Amino acid sequence: MTARKILRMGNPFLNQVAEPVTAFDTPELHALIADMFDTMKVANGAGLAAPQIGIGLRIVIFGFDSNPRYPGRESVPVTVLLNPVIEPIGSEKSEDWEGCLSVPGLRGQVERFDRIRYCGFDPKGAAIDRTVDGFHARVVQHECDHLDGVLYPMRIRDMSKLGYIDELVSAGRIKLPIANDD
Ligand code: NI
Repeated sequence: MTARKILRMGNPFLNQVAEPVTAFDTPELHALIADMFDTMKVANGAGLAAPQIGIGLRIVIFGFDSNPRYPGRESVPVTVLLNPVIEPIGSEKSEDWEGCLSVPGLRGQVERFDRIRYCGFDPKGAAIDRTVDGFHARVVQHECDHLDGVLYPMRIRDMSKLGYIDELVSAGRIKLPIANDD
């Protein structure tokens, strides 16, 4: 297991559409997922998508138990999700601050659906089907965007809502530590 290098915004690989996983439960797949967890842990992230380490497959990982780094955030079950499909439940959306390991040092306010159903597969090919809301729903939408080449700044409509973390903290616009570096 190895922590891999995380690609940063500007690397065109992050804007490519990833390919579906077709071979489940292989040693190569399990090794890749182990590396993704190592990478996320070293970087203190709440989630990671395979394209962020230069792998063009539709694999995301996310989740954490209650963690002092994420105050006020409900825990999200640690999940490996392959070939995900998201379906919004209702039309309600909310804005909240997001960060991304591929966009270090910045936070931005992004609008996401409040409630979603997501389906996909675990590494052994077993189906996952969950209906979630709140931060869990936000994290999944952020991660799955990575599989379609979308980084969160691309979804910010008002660019005054994008900023450097230390400036945002100084201005009282966000509190540290904050969740969702993913
Ligand atoms: Ni991200």
